[in-house]
Amino acid sequence: MNNDLDLLHPYPFEKLNALKTEVQAPTDVEHIALSIGEPKHAPPAHVVEVLQNNLDKLANYPSTKGLPELREAIANWCRHRFSLKRLCSETQILPVNGTREALFAFTQAVINRSDNPVVISPNPFYQIYEGAGLLAGAEMVYLNCDASNDFIPDFDSVPESVWQRCQLVFLCSPGNPTGAVLNLEHYRTLLTLADKYNFVVASDECYSEIYFDENNPPLGLLDACIQLNRPDYKNCVVFHSLSKRSNLPGLRSGFVAGDETILKKFLLYRTYHGCAMPIQHQLASIAAWNDEQHVLENRRFYQQKFTAVLEILDGVLDVEQPAASFYLWPETPIDEKDFAQQLFARQNVTVLPGSYLGRENSGVNPGSRRVRMALVAPLDECIEAAQRIKTFVKSL
Ligand SMILES: Cc1ncc(COP(=O)(O)O)c(C=O)c1O
Repeated sequence: MNNDLDLLHPYPFEKLNALKTEVQAPTDVEHIALSIGEPKHAPPAHVVEVLQNNLDKLANYPSTKGLPELREAIANWCRHRFSLKRLCSETQILPVNGTREALFAFTQAVINRSDNPVVISPNPFYQIYEGAGLLAGAEMVYLNCDASNDFIPDFDSVPESVWQRCQLVFLCSPGNPTGAVLNLEHYRTLLTLADKYNFVVASDECYSEIYFDENNPPLGLLDACIQLNRPDYKNCVVFHSLSKRSNLPGLRSGFVAGDETILKKFLLYRTYHGCAMPIQHQLASIAAWNDEQHVLENRRFYQQKFTAVLEILDGVLDVEQPAASFYLWPETPIDEKDFAQQLFARQNVTVLPGSYLGRENSGVNPGSRRVRMALVAPLDECIEAAQRIKTFVKSL
């Protein structure tokens, strides 16, 4: 077996399950999970209908590059959402089966393991970045994101010797778990470094459509490229998904877009990897990318939940509405693992200890003394959970 498999950490939910089995939850109240980032709002009916009406396509092999109509629908969405004048559906877009597999596969395609590679990741982070980097033979370098840097990686803190070995930088904006959003200056700093040291920037933007100010959607990396006069998106690739935008995590549908030289090689990799999107999923995805109404409603639902929950937690926990995403990332008055365990034991509510999403780096784990709460459950359940959290915190 591949020895690098031994480098992989247990997934956060495995650790969480182990933590919970040490205690017994009360049986007189229903369990509420705020731990998993799985959207629970209804998927758009018209998308489901397209899927159902096209089950006969099961009889055909899909192509890795995807249907031209899907790539064109994605290009249109990107041009509209990110004010891109040019994004070529033929060379600058590839459909993927959700961003999880794409982030992983992309890393394998990009990293040259014989060159002593480094992959840079925010810390805390979506766990796939680390697993992908380690299995590609890279050393992971983490940039702590905490309140002192507004949860944004400090690229200026990276030594030159690390940049010289760096082959790939992961961005996550809006961030999971912090909800922080990168601005043009952050992108400018990083892209100046990318030009100097010739590394690839993989920007995970799967929460880009969960925001709260309709007049100020999160800036994406391709947006930033245009504003920074990089019309070819050199060294830049973005990752987008229908999972959160359209409540379709089971469709496994997303795309990558950006630098055509990189995507040409990634397509070659994917041809052998064997991860073409089923045709009926592609047709359903076209229906999803072509519609914004359901996305707007989705944002309204999340805003309602944030407003209600934050009102209850006001003065109870140190917590703020994030710039975007559906997570709260509050500070905990006690150790975050104890907090999660005791909250489960006393109130049957599950939250995720922040330290499970981070690594100790420079002597601290920036996820410690924080928990992640995903406001994915229906409004009444989120309110009930917030009330139980309030009762729990007051009892400490
Ligand atoms: C930051 C981040 N990136 C990527 C993903 C993967 O999403 P999907 O594979 O459904 O597109 C997730 C899922 O939770 C996530 O939180």
